[in-house]
Amino acid sequence: MDKEKIASIKSGFLEEYQNSRNEKSLYEVKVKYVGRNGELTKILKKLKNLSAEERKQIGTLANEARREIEKAYEARKKELGERIDWEKEKIDVTLPGKKVEIGSLHPVTLVYREIERVFSSMGFEIVEGPELETDWYNFTSLNFPFDHPARDMQDTFWVKSPKEKMVLRTHTSPVQVRYMEKRKPPFRIIVPGRVFRNEATDAKHEHTLHQFEALVVGDDVNVGNFKYIAKEFFSAFFGKKMDIRLRPSFFPFTEPSFEFDITCAICSGKGCTTCKNAGWLEIGGAGMVNQNVFVAAGYPRNKYQGFAWGFGIERLAMMKYKIDDIRWFESGDLRFIKQF
Ligand code: DAH
Repeated sequence: MDKEKIASIKSGFLEEYQNSRNEKSLYEVKVKYVGRNGELTKILKKLKNLSAEERKQIGTLANEARREIEKAYEARKKELGERIDWEKEKIDVTLPGKKVEIGSLHPVTLVYREIERVFSSMGFEIVEGPELETDWYNFTSLNFPFDHPARDMQDTFWVKSPKEKMVLRTHTSPVQVRYMEKRKPPFRIIVPGRVFRNEATDAKHEHTLHQFEALVVGDDVNVGNFKYIAKEFFSAFFGKKMDIRLRPSFFPFTEPSFEFDITCAICSGKGCTTCKNAGWLEIGGAGMVNQNVFVAAGYPRNKYQGFAWGFGIERLAMMKYKIDDIRWFESGDLRFIKQF
């Protein structure tokens, strides 16, 4: 009688425990059979009422069954522990989702993209160069004399390096030579990038800023080509007809050199406080590439001609978005950035 009972308890447990889907229900099954008032426990408790002969027989069987149940229980518990508990992991797909904050683009990035869009459409290649430069690319190859003030510790961040003195590039012009070393004319490129100056900062001056260089070289590239491309670009960028004006200037790497002004984007040339009633705003430097720069890049002297220009991206963004202080750009202030 008890023998059969033990066998049926064992098979009952072995059937039920397989169906438990988590540790809690598995434990309940175990309690039902071998807990304090479990079915098998009841038999073990009654052993003392049996004859010595029966006690030995039934006791052995019951204990065997208990060991087997415990073993099966432990194995299943381990298995469940390694599984995903679907009860606990259940998600309510009808709940409203967590709001993902989407940031906005920094105005410098916006201007970069606009510049790249306009110049790509005119067949320009976009080129980049390193922010940590050698003296050769940043100054010497660009025809800067050795005593030029831009090489001064006051103007420039020099960096100690094991091989040679390095500089945080002060402009994007070094990429002109880097590019020409590898390519033969004709070509037209633009070079957007970050540059550094040891400035006493104020509303118009920042130590870290972005520039944008253009370089067009061929057999007969001239100042007229420069004026045309510049007008096209600024008109596309500001979404209205813009004019350009050149004033004589000096840069070591161009000859002749000019500063160039564009129609005041605020008053469209009529005269306002921003342009101090001039109708023009100074925007950057430009010129015909000095033959010494071609020679530094490995080209023969007087074989090619080209123009180059460079200007500050922040300055352009300040005009477009009417920003009054250049220090906002590097401030990391989200109230500023979120407006774009
Ligand atoms: N690199 C000059 C600067 O940072 C700007 C510049 C002037 C770039 C004339 C040019 C150029 O390409 O032709 O002040």
